[in-house]
Amino acid sequence: MKEASAAAVPERTFERLTLNQRLQHAVLMVSFTTLVVTGMPVRYAESGWAAWLTALMGGAEGRALLHRVAAVVLMLLAVYHVGYLVGTRRGRYELRQLIPWFPDAWDAIHHLLYYLGRRPHPPRFGRFSYIEKFEYLAVVWGTFCMGVTGLVLWFEVEAMRYLPKWAVDVCRVIHSYEALLAALAIAVWHLYCVHFRPDVFPMSRIWLDGRISEAEMKLHHPREYEEILRREAAATAAEEPDLGAVPQPAGKETGS
Ligand code: HEM
Repeated sequence: MKEASAAAVPERTFERLTLNQRLQHAVLMVSFTTLVVTGMPVRYAESGWAAWLTALMGGAEGRALLHRVAAVVLMLLAVYHVGYLVGTRRGRYELRQLIPWFPDAWDAIHHLLYYLGRRPHPPRFGRFSYIEKFEYLAVVWGTFCMGVTGLVLWFEVEAMRYLPKWAVDVCRVIHSYEALLAALAIAVWHLYCVHFRPDVFPMSRIWLDGRISEAEMKLHHPREYEEILRREAAATAAEEPDLGAVPQPAGKETGS
């Protein structure tokens, strides 16, 4: 049998998430899921599944303890993440890329017109699309809001030394509804984007190995892709020897 003359060239991939970022994502995923599973039985206390789930967690005390442990993990992660964003070069770069700006509003309108058949191509996104930026801001806002209201519920007696009773009640309502909103946003929006969208189904692997294929880069982040190619071309040009330069004999003084 004839051997293949040349091995297939593997497709080029790019780093999208560093190991540090993937670990942060994993901690967020586990703590958030735990908070949903341990919080929802309180919100829907009258349903049969809530009693079953609470019993599974060792009763009301076990459920409450798990909720608090996961909450502390999430809040520590939030503090670490802020330090990462301001204290590391990569973090500062990501932060700059994540801040929404006027062109994002235009991208959103362009995208809508594309879906309505009024534009031939979708918008050309950079490192983060307006959807990804919005999703990130939702996590930032959600964590802040759940953290503050959750701490008020946790330390209710102490909080009532400084806050009127109605303010604590408002915190309970906000915590309860924001929890539902956050859980639905993750279950419907985020899981659709990373699992069920036709071009990534059954799952994007970026959260596991941090790599994105060249084809995906061209499709979803064409402006970032072009920027990387430009930087690479500039770096190669800087490394190449200047062929026009006259070689000087070793040891001979050239300057004045
Ligand atoms: C981040 C810090 C958080 C803290 C400190 C916190 C703390 C608390 C506390 C003390 C309660 C009262 C019930 C209990 O004793 O367990 C509670 C309730 C609840 N938590 Fe959290 N929580 C946090 C985040 C979250 C998150 C991220 C979710 C889900 C996305 C969540 C979902 C819920 C739900 C659904 C309830 C029941 C609210 C109700 O309807 O009364 N919590 N939380």
